Amino acid sequence: MGSKKKHQKKDRPPKATQASRADKHVLYQRAVQSPGADVEFFSERFEEMRGRPALRLREDFCGTALLATTWCASDPRRTAVGVDLDGATLGWGREHNVDPAGAEVAARVELIEGDVRAVVAAPADITCAMNFSYCVFKRRDELRAYLEAARRGLREDGIFIAELYGGLEAIDVLEEERELDDFTYIWEQESFNPLDHSTTCHIHFEFDDGSRIERAFTYEWRLWTIPELRELLLEAGFREVKVFWEEVEVDEDEVDEDGDAIMTGTGEYVEVTELDENQESWLVYLIALA
Ligand SMILES: C[S@@+](CC[C@H](N)C(=O)[O-])C[C@H]1O[C@@H](n2cnc3c(N)ncnc32)[C@H](O)[C@@H]1O
Repeated sequence: MGSKKKHQKKDRPPKATQASRADKHVLYQRAVQSPGADVEFFSERFEEMRGRPALRLREDFCGTALLATTWCASDPRRTAVGVDLDGATLGWGREHNVDPAGAEVAARVELIEGDVRAVVAAPADITCAMNFSYCVFKRRDELRAYLEAARRGLREDGIFIAELYGGLEAIDVLEEERELDDFTYIWEQESFNPLDHSTTCHIHFEFDDGSRIERAFTYEWRLWTIPELRELLLEAGFREVKVFWEEVEVDEDEVDEDGDAIMTGTGEYVEVTELDENQESWLVYLIALA
């Protein structure tokens, strides 16, 4: 070490960046989740299919349990159980979602730390696996075992709802940005292996001051296809599987660089039994009837 003292700037604490002040769970919930729309969609589909209101929800892979809480807040007769392996995330959800909903709602939300394949709870009208979480199960027998457990956890006329994404861009590497009011949500598909459909994806957040939360969330998934998931649901004992596809609107006034009309999703999902064209990207709900 040299003896010369380095010239030092006055010790001022570094200015906190927007990234350092942000909470990744808050950003995730704002960017990715729409619990109100989910509750409406689930309630309507269940009532149509079963002719009675759905009262009990099981949210598998519940993370911060925002959906389970929104479900219970939507009707005083409703109860929910959220299941997740990650105790810290469940704790965050209790503090920021469940308890702030008020004692009356909180008393109807149960959170269980455990594996969705092993946790047994009071039977549900609807069990859901949102945001592709079941894609952590990469082998057919693993996914089938989960779907069998999901079916066992339902009432006799219960339904299972799972989200799936796909399309031409889903099997590629890419980075996609979406701007929200005060931050940018970045979805990165880092890798996709056509041999086994394994994919590594990340969520990053970026702020106006240039700071970022790099890899706030990372997922190691197998990207399942609709026919595979349908077959596994039937093998797991479900009687019927329906696919709900997002309706698109064609904007006649705007075209993309190839001169094709621009299509945008309406947020409305309708049952489809035939399609003759793939899309760049799509998101569907599969509904399996017990
Ligand atoms: C993509 S997040 C989903 C969060 C939330 N459900 C949503 O829709 O945004 C996946 C969650 O699944 C949980 N998880 C992964 N494997 C699990 C398992 N075998 N049993 C229970 N939870 C699991 C993780 O801890 C994580 O919180």
